[in-house]
Amino acid sequence: MEPERERESHVRPATPDEAADPRGMHLANRAAWDEAAERYEGWFDESVALIRGGGSNLFPVEAALIGDLHGRCRRAIHLQCAGGRDTLSLWNLGAEEVVGVDFSPRMLELARRLSDAVAAPARWIEADVLDAPAELDGTGDLLYTGRGALIWLQDLDAWAAVVRRLLTNDGRFVLFDGHPVEWLFDVDGDGRWIATDYDYFAGPEASKGWAPEYIESLSVSDEEQSWKFARAWTLGEVVTALLRAGLAVQEVAEHPVDWWGGHRDVRPEERGRIPLSFSIVATRGR
Ligand SMILES: C[S@@+](CC[C@H](N)C(=O)[O-])C[C@H]1O[C@@H](n2cnc3c(N)ncnc32)[C@H](O)[C@@H]1O
Repeated sequence: MEPERERESHVRPATPDEAADPRGMHLANRAAWDEAAERYEGWFDESVALIRGGGSNLFPVEAALIGDLHGRCRRAIHLQCAGGRDTLSLWNLGAEEVVGVDFSPRMLELARRLSDAVAAPARWIEADVLDAPAELDGTGDLLYTGRGALIWLQDLDAWAAVVRRLLTNDGRFVLFDGHPVEWLFDVDGDGRWIATDYDYFAGPEASKGWAPEYIESLSVSDEEQSWKFARAWTLGEVVTALLRAGLAVQEVAEHPVDWWGGHRDVRPEERGRIPLSFSIVATRGR
């Protein structure tokens, strides 16, 4: 559920009852992501080749923020790890051990197959990120998340508290995710930016079907898919949640990077004018 929403077959605002039930929306999202894991399964062979070859699936901007992890990261924890390709990229960047947390059993099965195939020191934990197990508390030298993570979460304060809880005292949190402003723009037939009718302050919306740039098609038809709930948290809401949880925010940056290829049709001269992603680096705080 990214922009290009008009190409999805069903999009509606969450009802007041749905919006009042963050956990209910997460349960629906879990079912939808388990369906979508089918697309990630199609990337398995290329993921094995990438990780086995010592490569990384992270964007240059992420790699720059994370840095070389050799000798300074006993454990990297990846929240919303999906099929584990980005998680295992952290291993290739030098983390001694990686832990991926995701609530989709099918995604984690894929992640397990991937780490088995490359014999990586990885653990995969099936949980809602809001329920990340206490055994992980204070163990993340690096806590990483992003690229389509925050829009699925419906309680940002609870999430920020988990981020703080999992970090070691000297640990670093690195987030690189889609910019909420992205939801406000689309392109016309000439590849020029135009405004969508999205309300920046609208809250959660329900959808079925996926943006074809990300997930072309699934064997389950759009109509039969589970409803899923996403929202464009504003930058203010994200930063404030982290501050309220006690984290020490070091850096907030906005980037023109189109991390999911959702705006491929933009004319070259129009690129770079609009932030399509953002990053945050924070430490645990006292
Ligand atoms: C767009 S993917 C993140 C992808 C990741 N950057 C990658 O490409 O490997 C979103 C992931 O978040 C997971 N997810 C969404 N909401 C979650 C929640 N509340 N708890 C745990 N996992 C969640 C989904 O199962 C899915 O694997």
